[in-house]
Amino acid sequence: MSTALPIILSSSDEPANKPPAAPLEANRPGQLYDSHGRVIHDLRLSITDRCNFRCRYCMEPDYKYMPQRELLSFEEYLTVVRVCLTLGITKIRVTGGEPTLYSQLLPLLTELGKMAIEDIAMTTNGSLMTQESAKAWKEAGLHRITLSLDSLRDDRVEHITRAKTNLNSSINAIKIAKAAGLSPIRVNVVIMRDVNDDEIADFADFAREHEIDVRLIEFMPLDSDRAWHRSAVVSADEMLEAINKRHTLVQLDRKNPHSPSLNFGFADKSLGKIGIIASVTRPFCGACSRLRVTADGKIRACLFSLEEWDLRPLLRSGASDEELAAFIVDSVWTKQKGHSINAADFVQPKRTMSAIGG
Ligand code: 5AD
Ligand code: SF4
Repeated sequence: MSTALPIILSSSDEPANKPPAAPLEANRPGQLYDSHGRVIHDLRLSITDRCNFRCRYCMEPDYKYMPQRELLSFEEYLTVVRVCLTLGITKIRVTGGEPTLYSQLLPLLTELGKMAIEDIAMTTNGSLMTQESAKAWKEAGLHRITLSLDSLRDDRVEHITRAKTNLNSSINAIKIAKAAGLSPIRVNVVIMRDVNDDEIADFADFAREHEIDVRLIEFMPLDSDRAWHRSAVVSADEMLEAINKRHTLVQLDRKNPHSPSLNFGFADKSLGKIGIIASVTRPFCGACSRLRVTADGKIRACLFSLEEWDLRPLLRSGASDEELAAFIVDSVWTKQKGHSINAADFVQPKRTMSAIGG
């Protein structure tokens, strides 16, 4: 059991903490293991908590950003990645907040592009993408992007994002990403009851029309409005039922055993796919291969962790790569077996999605 200090949240005033030392068996050269036998090879790196949207399921309107000095520097982000690669990380997803607001995004992608990383992806709301930026990201080494879009109706897009934006902006981002070769393109849709759950089948049409992979995500308790309630979750089963009324889906083999989504194609062989991320009703924790590092350098072994480990003091005190690696190994060892969203005593983590990195 962890004897470590409890929860470190996004506050700057909390003392730094560190994970308990993992047993010797955790130290396997070039591999990151947790205490439940899962191999971790997927890093989600948040590079900013800033965002130009305020999506209802993610960030409250008056969310207070972390002070700039608390966010890792460009060099520190690169150090984190470099050390993670020595530990067997093969995939990196750059997230935010909104990563395109990070002033050094292109230099960062350029440096990542020079490293031996199998898959470099980025999650963005797409609102700030231009043909030039997308082309430059691709040339730098970004392989693919995931866009967030939660409604196909302009009034709802504004309502959900609490921003002046519209569907066309997202369609434009899809076209730009396609032209730049940032594929496969995914679109994340968080389905919330009585907000956009009447658009599930329309999103299937959208996947077919634009020949993209639409991922319908069950609403998770990571919203800063604390508006999440079990009754607001639209289950994977309900989503499938809604789509099957209009299209016949065929389940696809799981190419990636660590993929969180149930994947479907269309029986009529139309291009476009549907992925359902059923984090609440069909948790996939057993197959999880992820590790998260927040923009301020906290290691979160799980989205729903109530504890996180502060790598920043080590990064700022001239620690060697070996020391950083040992800290990461110890942190990963604490990864919890699964989330307990469905338990009566579930506690929502204080950090919201925007401050964790989706
Ligand atoms: N529940 C489910 N998905 C969420 N995302 C953000 N907040 C939530 C939530 N509460 C997803 C969005 C976004 C990605 C970064 O995380 O789809 O695209
Ligand atoms: Fe911003 Fe993404 Fe959160 Fe929306 S989901 S507020 S776009 S970080």
